[in-house]
Order: sequence, then C-alpha cells, then structure tokens
Amino acid sequence: MRILAIETSCDETAIAIADFSGTKIRSQITVLSNIVSTQVALHAKFGGVVPNLAKREHQKNLPSILLAALKEARLLKPKVKNQKLKSQLKIQNVEKILEREPELLKRFKKYIVPLQKSKIDAIAVTYGPGLAPALWVGVNFSRALARLWNVPLIPVNHMEGHLFSAFLQQSGKEKSKFQIIDSKFPTLALLVSGGHTELILMKGYGKYKVIGETLDDAAGEAFDKVARLLGLGYPGGPEISALAEKLKVKSLKLKVALPRPMINSKDYNFSFSGLKTAVLYFLRDHSRAAKSKIGKAAVAKEFQDAVVDVLVQKTIRAAKEYKAKTVLLGGGVAANRLLRRELVKNLQKELPKAECWMPNVALAGDNALMIALAAYFSGKKKAPNAVGANANLRLD
Ligand code: KG4
Ligand code: ZN
Repeated sequence: MRILAIETSCDETAIAIADFSGTKIRSQITVLSNIVSTQVALHAKFGGVVPNLAKREHQKNLPSILLAALKEARLLKPKVKNQKLKSQLKIQNVEKILEREPELLKRFKKYIVPLQKSKIDAIAVTYGPGLAPALWVGVNFSRALARLWNVPLIPVNHMEGHLFSAFLQQSGKEKSKFQIIDSKFPTLALLVSGGHTELILMKGYGKYKVIGETLDDAAGEAFDKVARLLGLGYPGGPEISALAEKLKVKSLKLKVALPRPMINSKDYNFSFSGLKTAVLYFLRDHSRAAKSKIGKAAVAKEFQDAVVDVLVQKTIRAAKEYKAKTVLLGGGVAANRLLRRELVKNLQKELPKAECWMPNVALAGDNALMIALAAYFSGKKKAPNAVGANANLRLD
C-alpha cells in the first residue's frame, strides 16, 4: 500500500510518500520521500508561531512541496501534451473545495491539475490537534487532491503520528528502509511536544487512554518560553539543551535551584508554567548572573534537569502502576538528549523487563512520515467531503 501523507498542523509543511508491505506488526516500510519545510525562521522574529502567518506559508508552499515529494519518489511523470482535459466536474469540485483559499487554488490549478495521476493508494492528512488555520489548509489541499486523483482520504490525529514515530526503526544500512517494532501491550507513551504533554496508556492498536496531561504549558512550550527569557532563539528546546550541555559544572559558583512541579502528586498530570515563572523570578533577583553566559547556562541546565526529572519520574511511576511492557517516547521534545538518556537509564533500573522505544532524533519533530504510518496502522478511509479539521482533537 502506498500512502502520501500531508502535515500542516503547526509551522512545518511536510509531505511524505511511503510504501508499506507485510503484515501490520511485521511491516516493512520504504520511504520514497520525506520532505519537511520549516517556517521557523519566519516565526522566530515573533518568538513563537503566528497562526495566520503559518496558514499563508502552507498555502504558498504546499503545491511546490508536493511536486518535490513526487519528484523525489520518482512519481512525477511528465505532463502529456494535449492531455485530455480533466473532467469539468472534477475541476469544479476542486474549485469548490478550495474556494476559501484563492491563492492555493490558483497554484493548485497551475501545478497540480495538469499532472498525470500518481500511483497512490490513499492520502493521509493531519486533521488535529493543532492551529486551526494551519490545519484547514492541509485538510483542504488533501481533499482537493483526493478528489482530483480519486483516492480515499485518511484523517490522522497528529499525536497518534508522534506516538507511531517511536515504532519506526531503521532496518539495516539503507536509510530509506524501516521496520516496525513489535509493541507489547499494555504500552505506555510519553508524548511531549510544543502543544502537548501527555501520558497515554495503550491497550492495543487504536485503544488509547490519556492517563495524564499538562494542566497549563506543554513541555516544549516551557522550553520555548524560558529560552525567550534567557534571550535565546526560537525554538527554545535545542537552544536550551545546547547551552546546558556546554556548561562546565566545576567552574560554576552560582547555585540555581528550581522546583519540580507536581513531581510527587498522585495523579499523572503535569504543570510547567510555575517553572517558567520561577525562572523569571530567578533572573529578576540575579540580574548580573542573568546577563552572563555562564549564568544563563546554569539556569538552562537546571531548567532542563527539572523538566526531565518530572517527565521521567512520572513516566516510570505510571509504567509500574499499569505494568507497561513497552514504553514509548514521542514528540518534538523527544529530541532532547538528556530526556532520552534518563528515560532509558531509569527504566533499566526500575523496570528492567520493559522495552523502551523512541524515534530517530530526525523524526521526533513534526513530519509527514509519522502521519503515513499512523494512517496505515489505525486510519480509516473516508470520502474527501467527510473530512474536516479539529483543532482540539483528543486521542481518547
Ligand atoms: O512536535 P513538535 O515538532 O511540534 C508540535 O507538535 O508542537 O514539537 C516542537 C517542540 C518545540 O517546543 C521545541 O522547542 C521542542 O519541541 N524541542 C525540544 C528539542 N527539540 C525540539 N525541546 C527540548 N529539547 C530539544 N532538543
Ligand atoms: Zn508535533
């Protein structure tokens, strides 16, 4: 089965094409293309993602990224000269679907309509959660493409995509070939991104229960906000961890002690906004340290330690309580090296029989390959008209 997947829930415009074969748990995956076009530089000026700007960029970029993905997958066939005009009805359908996206419609008609149909069995698209204006562009683009090529559409939950990204493990030396791990149930997944922080109990494929989530800021959001307080760039996660890793502890006289919010609470919820406020107060009260590189590094390190301590401790406790046989890590923050290291180390110590899987660092952030994978595993084919965006979509 060949799936073309489209992801536009936030500030990455991503398209992937992948072939799936074998049975579900013994799947072989060949990635034909996996393109992620980031808008980070554009949003960096504002210190975070501006939804309407993201929407405009997705509208501008989707057609050319689709062409690039098809080309990379060797599926872009030359236009046939004097090609029979696509049926008028199809064009009308496309016009109707994209009527509120005039710029996108113009590009769609110019670049996509004249193409020969590619050999694709289904189109997968992220329909939530995310920024509504950004989601709608991807959904409408996918609906138009599904109509034009007459293939089914598979709506996918973005967080399910992050969860499945941990299932993808490189097989052998070929970079484009992956295998799916055989997850043992119950599985516990820690999903940490810019918009979400959730602990998910998975009793089988498609059977999810959110057993804990953040009550305020997501972990990635906290990294982004603290980076801003420290005068670092956006996104803040990689900036903070790079600075923290540079710190030579011995040369440091300044003591920074930040709280570990909710680390001992009986539930599995999280809260990170108080931690950000604690950083704000620390910087206010230590203004000299706040201006020095080493002072900033000390704050970055303590902040990262605090977030990782809470995430790891609560995940281990939940894994024990629910007798998890597999533990998964996913989402943009899963790229954090300290988090990856500490989760594995503590699981080995406290639950040595549990397996732990996490995505390649390159697949931790938003991408469309994870959307193709989730579509293959638990997606349901729908008629294009039946699919709409849902910004607040949940996993359970
Ligand atoms: O999953 P993702 O790419 O987008 C959303 O769905 O939100 O996650 C983006 C988040 C950002 O907040 C970013 O700062 C964070 O992931 N992030 C990291 C690291 N790399 C990205 N946080 C901590 N450490 C990192 N190395
Ligand atoms: Zn994400």
